[in-house]
Parts: sequence; C-alpha cells; structure tokens
Amino acid sequence: MNGKTCLVTGATSGIGLKTAEGLAAAGARVVVAGRNEQKVAALAARLGAGTGSHVADLSKQDDVRRLAHEVQERYDRIDVLINNAGAFYQRRQESEDGVEMTFALNHLAPFLLTNLLLDYLKAGGPARIVTVASFAHKGQKLDFDDLEGKRKYGGWKAYSRSKLANILFTYELARRLEGTGVTANCLHPGFVASKFGHNNGGFVKVVGGLLQRLFAISEEKGALTSLHLATSPEVEGVSGKYFAKSKPAASSAASHDEDAQARLWEISAEMVGLT
Ligand SMILES: NC(=O)c1ccc[n+]([C@@H]2O[C@H](COP(=O)([O-])OP(=O)(O)OC[C@H]3O[C@@H](n4cnc5c(N)ncnc54)[C@H](OP(=O)(O)O)[C@@H]3O)[C@@H](O)[C@H]2O)c1
Repeated sequence: MNGKTCLVTGATSGIGLKTAEGLAAAGARVVVAGRNEQKVAALAARLGAGTGSHVADLSKQDDVRRLAHEVQERYDRIDVLINNAGAFYQRRQESEDGVEMTFALNHLAPFLLTNLLLDYLKAGGPARIVTVASFAHKGQKLDFDDLEGKRKYGGWKAYSRSKLANILFTYELARRLEGTGVTANCLHPGFVASKFGHNNGGFVKVVGGLLQRLFAISEEKGALTSLHLATSPEVEGVSGKYFAKSKPAASSAASHDEDAQARLWEISAEMVGLT
C-alpha cells in the first residue's frame, strides 16, 4: 500500500481502529476521521508522521460537508474510502439536523460523504469505496413510509435497516460507477468484541458485553474483511458485492431490490440537500 492514501471513518475505536492500524502497517498513508478530538490526535500520533487527522461528528451533515472539503483541500487523492463509523441506539434520538440518529449516522453520513467525494475519487482513480454493513440486514425491509421510525421505533430494527441501507446504497453506487475505475463494495465484519452498543448503557451494555465475551471475534479479526477489500489485488475491479470473511457472500433478496435502491438514493439525496 506504499503511495496509497486511505480515509477511514470511525477510526478511533473498534474495527475502524484496527483497520487504520492495518493499513498503516501495510505502508499506506492513513487519514483518520473521528468525532473526539483527543482520540483522533492520539491515534494520529501513534500511527506516525504523514497520518492525516480530521475531527467530525458524522451525525451532523455540516461536519460531513466540512470533512469532505478538508480532505479534498489537503490530499492529492484518496485511493480508498472506508465508511466504517456506525452505532446502535436503543432509544430513538434525533441528530442536530432533526434526523433519527441511526439513519443519520449509519446511512446518510456515508451516503453524503461518498457523494461529495465522488468526482474527486473518479479524477484520482482507480479508487475503492468500502462500506461496513452487517449480517444484521438479513430479514429486514425498508419501510419507506417511516424511514426514521417516527411512528414506531425499535433500536434493533433501526440498526438492521440502516445496515440494509448500506447495502442498497452500495449496489446502486456500483452501478452508477461502472466504467469509472472506482469500485464500491460492502461487508459484514463478523460479530466483533468492540465498544459497539456501549453508548446505550444498562441492559444493552450488560447483555451485549456478555454475548461479545462469549461469541465475538477480536477487533483485529473484525478488521480483516475491510482490509481485504481495501488492499487485496484479488478484488481489483470487483464492484457491487457484499463480502464476509474476505469472500463474496450472499446478501438478502431485499438488498437486491433495484426499485428500493433507486428510491432510497432519491430520498437520501433530498434529505442531505444533494438534489
Ligand atoms: N461490532 C460488531 O459486531 C459489528 C457487526 C457488524 C457490523 N458492525 C459495524 O462495524 C462498524 C464499526 O463498529 P465497531 O464494532 O467498531 O463499533 P465501535 O467500537 O463502537 O466503533 C464505532 C466507531 O464509530 C465512531 N462513531 C460513533 N458515532 C460517531 C459519530 N457521531 N461521528 C463520528 N464517528 C462516530 C466511534 O467513535 P468514538 O471512538 O468516538 O466512539 C468509533 O470510532 C459499524 O458501522 C457497525 O455497524 C459491527
């Protein structure tokens, strides 16, 4: 990865942290983005000279826009964009923009960041866009009449649907990128013993922590599929796929619904002011 520049969101903990470390170890210049200034600065110092660092709360559309702007100003090109930041919210919350948090952070943020960087990625291409989705999408369908859980909210439903949205977005994006030299893939990292879900406290933290201790893989292992998609020559030119354990895997039938992909794109573009 010498000479390559890779941007990782949510790089301050968990899978993103191990992905950033893995990319740095492979010789890439890593650009890390996180919401916590101290954590971002400490990580950048640890990864060494040349590491780029940006502070952005990705649930806020203004921060996503500022991040996209800073990246284009500061680096000649980005070879790999890893949309990794994500979270689970047991109780319904709204972002500063008045959007339900799970949808705002897990779906609208990567949608907006990727779109704002698209021409820049194409101009510097070939480039890879990697989005961390989840197996949790299985069995879910988007409810276009209530995308933000205004009528009925369930934390798990909101999360698993946001991960379905990651896959619908990736498939539509890959089609739009055909022939440009930029690829778009997504992945399930495995069930990973990270800090995922800990923001909820109480029952979710205790039960989640227990399940993680019993069944989850390490954060290092959880980063392997992201690293594979970012670095491996095996996936050069491969686009529009869902991966698990560093191999192409089957995502749900609902994720292949092209009408849902197009509709989600249109609604998302409107919600982030890209129309
Ligand atoms: N863990 C699993 O079993 C699992 C399974 C399938 C998919 N995933 C996906 O993997 C990705 C990474 O999760 P993880 O397991 O590594 O969880 P994690 O340890 O909680 O890490 C999440 C990362 O996202 C960042 N983040 C959270 N809210 C943010 C915001 N508003 N703005 C910017 N960054 C924000 C966190 O920053 P801080 O360091 O400041 O908290 C952290 O760097 C997520 O997309 C998740 O959906 C995880």
